[in-house]
Amino acid sequence: MELVVTEDYAALSRAGAEWLARGIIAEPDAAVVLATGNTPMGMYRELAEMGRRDGLDVSRLRVFQLDAYVGLDPGDPRSLYGWMARAVLAPLGVAEVQVVRLAGDAPDLQEACRAYDAAVAAAGGFALSVLGLGPNGHLGFNEPPSDPTAPTRLVTLTEESIASNAGYWGGRDQVPRQALTAGMAPLLAARRTLLVVSGAHKRDILQRTLLGPPMPEVPASYLQQAANVTVLADRAAWPFPVPDELVPR
Ligand code: PGA
Repeated sequence: MELVVTEDYAALSRAGAEWLARGIIAEPDAAVVLATGNTPMGMYRELAEMGRRDGLDVSRLRVFQLDAYVGLDPGDPRSLYGWMARAVLAPLGVAEVQVVRLAGDAPDLQEACRAYDAAVAAAGGFALSVLGLGPNGHLGFNEPPSDPTAPTRLVTLTEESIASNAGYWGGRDQVPRQALTAGMAPLLAARRTLLVVSGAHKRDILQRTLLGPPMPEVPASYLQQAANVTVLADRAAWPFPVPDELVPR
């Protein structure tokens, strides 16, 4: 694991955008899975800005949706696909045909999950994975407890995830109770992973992710066993003391 601590969210966003740009430049047809959530929004804005300024060829990229609420069609502004489309695809100029959706609106959800895992396998697995850290240690919607071999599947959201998403939905009663998530197995097999973590409310769960023994109750802790993981945290989220001179601004 590579650990990178930045002074604040702005520096985290720049570092995250650079990580992703380097990955795309090295492998322009990479299969990339991209989280929504608040934390990576800054790095996506930075990346779009870098693309406009310096040029970044995303025409061959294959983007995979990380998770999806059940029962919302992709045109629903509340859907996670819609969020990814607004925050990443449109600003970067990624076309819809380049995207593999996780179809939470499919009539057969099991089949949708199987089709997604087949598409990941056909792409040779994820080359790049950008993940946020749930306050309960989830990755995507791999809610605790999640086994490291868990495939892409239908999940019931925990109370903690419902509460943390209530703000986007106008209250917890409005939050869908079920979701599809890219499985632990394909995520842990990604060739390079960036875990972005910001804010003091993530400090405890980041500590358990980094130091606790890997366990289903903290799904993100299995990243300790995955290849080429970079944990990028701002100082507020970082659970250990760091000398000032080591923190880039
Ligand atoms: P956040 O979400 O980036 O909005 O904190 C992270 C997550 O719940 O996976």
